[in-house]
Amino acid sequence: MVKAVCVLKGEVVNGTVHFEQEGDGPVTLSGELTGLSDGLHGFHVHQFGDNTNGCMSAGPHFNVDGSEHGAPTDAKGARHAGDLGNVTAEGGVAKVEISDAMISLSGENSIIGRTMVIHADEDDLGQGGHELSKSTGNAGARAACGVIGIAK
Ligand code: CU
Ligand code: ZN
Repeated sequence: MVKAVCVLKGEVVNGTVHFEQEGDGPVTLSGELTGLSDGLHGFHVHQFGDNTNGCMSAGPHFNVDGSEHGAPTDAKGARHAGDLGNVTAEGGVAKVEISDAMISLSGENSIIGRTMVIHADEDDLGQGGHELSKSTGNAGARAACGVIGIAK
């Protein structure tokens, strides 16, 4: 079992997400984010573990194969590896319960050392028809972020 952890910090939004992976199986994410407006919020792994200029220096979505932005349910080649869709906040709190087979905690698709970002707005999963739909899902500002690190 490989484990990782990410502490997300923002001006208002904060949270912790734990990652686990057994062998080459899917990565399971669990945790909680607080300080969010109620509704859907885009949740992605971004390319770089660089927070020198806050969440902006994390760069674009983690993308291993030149794909356009999509939904986590889309096939390989039709989504970024880092596209984990949306989390839903209720009473300001979003519970993170995600299982994803495209990201990994080792090898080419490893997310260790990259940045997890929670957005101010909903990710349209590439389907919104906005000029940003195919790159970011038009998910708006980066509300909080943190670098994914190795956990014990
Ligand atoms: Cu993002
Ligand atoms: Zn994306």
